[in-house]
Amino acid sequence: MSTVQLHDLRFEPFISEQELGLAIDSVAADLNKKYEGKRPLFIGVLNGAFFFAAELVKRITVECEITFVKVASYHGTASTGKVDQLIGLNERISGRHVVVLEDIVDTGNTIEHIMAVLADHHPASVSIAALLFKPDAYTKDIPIDHVAIRIPNAFVVGSGLDHDGLGRNLPGILRIVQ
Ligand code: IMP
Repeated sequence: MSTVQLHDLRFEPFISEQELGLAIDSVAADLNKKYEGKRPLFIGVLNGAFFFAAELVKRITVECEITFVKVASYHGTASTGKVDQLIGLNERISGRHVVVLEDIVDTGNTIEHIMAVLADHHPASVSIAALLFKPDAYTKDIPIDHVAIRIPNAFVVGSGLDHDGLGRNLPGILRIVQ
């Protein structure tokens, strides 16, 4: 694949679909071991996590449930640090083993907010699984338990990730051309 123009920015291929697939295999294997007999509730964070959620849960062999929530925290290419509400949390969380599925953890503002809201519902446990993690941008102490791929602090699109609405459909991960 060559470079792709999305609005004002150009992106180049960075992580292939195959590499993503292998990394997701590994996360799924860990989760299958960890949640045997625990009927985990996977909570995908929309919009970005639709791809990761679909790819991950088809590799999950233990009995599980999956639902989605929506937050709004990010506009353009720099995290605003502002997080809106958690929409769509209708399942009973109390006593459940919850796995939050994120497309990418950047500063950690979003995941911190989600963890705080979930804690109010008294789950048995909560862990976080992220398709991508930017350790150099992360500002929180909350451990990101399961990471498919760690990336440097660059803006990326593809496989659910967007630049102002565009690029979610692109296979693999592309990074901004500096
Ligand atoms: P955080 O709250 O700073 O951790 O950012 C989390 C959210 O910001 C993610 O769920 C994405 O929607 C968005 N985000 C962070 N980094 C990127 C990126 O490189 N590309 C696209 N979206 C991003």
